Amino acid sequence: MTLGPSHVPRPNTIASRAWTPTSSVRGYGRATPFVRGCGGVVVGRLAENRPAGIFLGGGWWVVGGGWCGGFWGWVVGVLVGRTALVTGASRGIGRGIALRLAGEGAVVGVHYRGDAAAAAETLAEIRGRGGCAFGVRAELGCVEGAETLFAGFDAGVAGLGVGRGLDILVNNAGVSGSARIDEVTPELFDRIFSVNVRSLLFVAQLGLRRMGEGGRVINVSSAATRIAYPESVVYSMSKGAVDTFTLALAKEVGPRGITVNAVAPGFVETDMNVAKRSTPDAAARLAGWSVFGRLGRTGDIADIVAFLASDDSRWITGQCIDASGGSRL
Ligand SMILES: NC(=O)c1ccc[n+]([C@@H]2O[C@H](COP(=O)([O-])OP(=O)(O)OC[C@H]3O[C@@H](n4cnc5c(N)ncnc54)[C@H](OP(=O)(O)O)[C@@H]3O)[C@@H](O)[C@H]2O)c1
Repeated sequence: MTLGPSHVPRPNTIASRAWTPTSSVRGYGRATPFVRGCGGVVVGRLAENRPAGIFLGGGWWVVGGGWCGGFWGWVVGVLVGRTALVTGASRGIGRGIALRLAGEGAVVGVHYRGDAAAAAETLAEIRGRGGCAFGVRAELGCVEGAETLFAGFDAGVAGLGVGRGLDILVNNAGVSGSARIDEVTPELFDRIFSVNVRSLLFVAQLGLRRMGEGGRVINVSSAATRIAYPESVVYSMSKGAVDTFTLALAKEVGPRGITVNAVAPGFVETDMNVAKRSTPDAAARLAGWSVFGRLGRTGDIADIVAFLASDDSRWITGQCIDASGGSRL
């Protein structure tokens, strides 16, 4: 699939980043002239306190049954010129992260498993705000999951003309499962570990093959690695493995100039825990975990991920950043 005149002249290597005129926009991050392959606004905002840019012209193409618009102009954001892949971006925290990264100018691969309607909503929201994104469907946890994911990712970036490179990988897709030690079954254990641990490793393996200097791997862990949560013992163990993997991988790829960090949310208002907060009392109990007395919002997590994805976090690696609003301090 090609997009005709639509092309993002993205810098995926240090050499190609050299032409990016950052000096003229100090304080606003990177500015990049572009011909972007997705919908846009004429004048808007990409993120708090950052002008989205002024688009000087536009056009629309119908490509392979889909749509794409193109605008010549300038876009400003700290992730302009970067390509990101966010797993599990159809809903919840992943959607929030995809919106935030796209808002900073990254081209975002929006991965989902089966909820195509939710993924389409994420894509529409990104495009509606002037961002650029494409969908990638893959079931993770099965043997071929990571390969399917990257086949879709490669096709998506090729379709937009942004090369094969990946700058930011957010390993967010995950499953939970409430079970105390006596209730755990081998099936539950295998399901949780295959998605949360096994596939996360193989997605990182393939992602790193596409990543150059300045790359970012961000794994979504859980505050359950710090706060004892026997109600979901296997889930907690799986996130412990994510933290350990983060530490080891950071050492492995540090010499390549790539950082690897984890973000550990507490309770965030998403589909994952809707059953746990089905009554006002239950919701208040969960909110009471945080010193701020509320549940986390997807944007709370996305803002931290955006920082870790940016150049500003270059001296942080191998860390698990608590993102729980001070839960159970
Ligand atoms: N919500 C919380 O309170 C909380 C707290 C701590 C950590 N976390 C972590 O944050 C991450 C996101 O959680 P969330 O609450 O946003 O979850 P969510 O709302 O349930 O969304 C899960 C996302 O992962 C995808 N997914 C689920 N199983 C998959 C599979 N087998 N293969 C591929 N994709 C799959 C889903 O795709 P479809 O839409 O296509 O099904 C969806 O995009 C998870 O790693 C979770 O462990 C969440």
